[in-house]
Amino acid sequence: MLPIAVLVSGSGSNLQAIVDASRADPDFGAEVAVVISDRPGVRALQRAEAAGIPAAVVAWADHPGREAFTGAVCDTAEHHGARALILAGFMRILAPEAVARFPLRIINTHPALLPAFPGAHAIPQALAHGVKVTGVTIHFVDEEVDHGPIIVQRPVPVLPGDDEPALQARIQAEEHRLYPAVVKAFATGRLTVDGRQVRWEGGPP
Ligand code: GRF
Repeated sequence: MLPIAVLVSGSGSNLQAIVDASRADPDFGAEVAVVISDRPGVRALQRAEAAGIPAAVVAWADHPGREAFTGAVCDTAEHHGARALILAGFMRILAPEAVARFPLRIINTHPALLPAFPGAHAIPQALAHGVKVTGVTIHFVDEEVDHGPIIVQRPVPVLPGDDEPALQARIQAEEHRLYPAVVKAFATGRLTVDGRQVRWEGGPP
């Protein structure tokens, strides 16, 4: 069983999807050992408590500077035995130390079809640009932002009249299906990485 740390900053709906899947599926291969938030008081922490999962707040203000903050996040994850970091709505950029300590063991979900719309404003930027299709990208994290090897992508249509909440809800519905499947595939050794190419044993979901 692979112990994972799920890193959050907000509502934690992806955290919930992963927890639910891990508990519903005896072959899931991973369990959430700790939830780490950079913000106190967020819904994701309530979800962790309700699920009986240890939670920790690693606040930016307590660890000034990206290196110190990253070190504290990695220390906290390791302290709880985590052997991979699953970023689920985590709004901080980790320093390269995280990739060095968890090489090809950090996964992120991004609400756009990378390399389009990297960064923290992917959904409003997609709407402003007038794209007809956006989507979800789940990828390994490397030293660059929203850049590492892509594990899976799914298109999501932008519909006439969409505003941010409507498009976000459609994207998140896809994330909630995909992210648990990715974590399971990773935990059960079905993902192979060769440079930028990620191969799925048995094919993606
Ligand atoms: C997700 O849509 C993710 O793509 C983005 O932030 C959102 C987090 O949602 N980076 P939640 O906290 O999992 O509900």
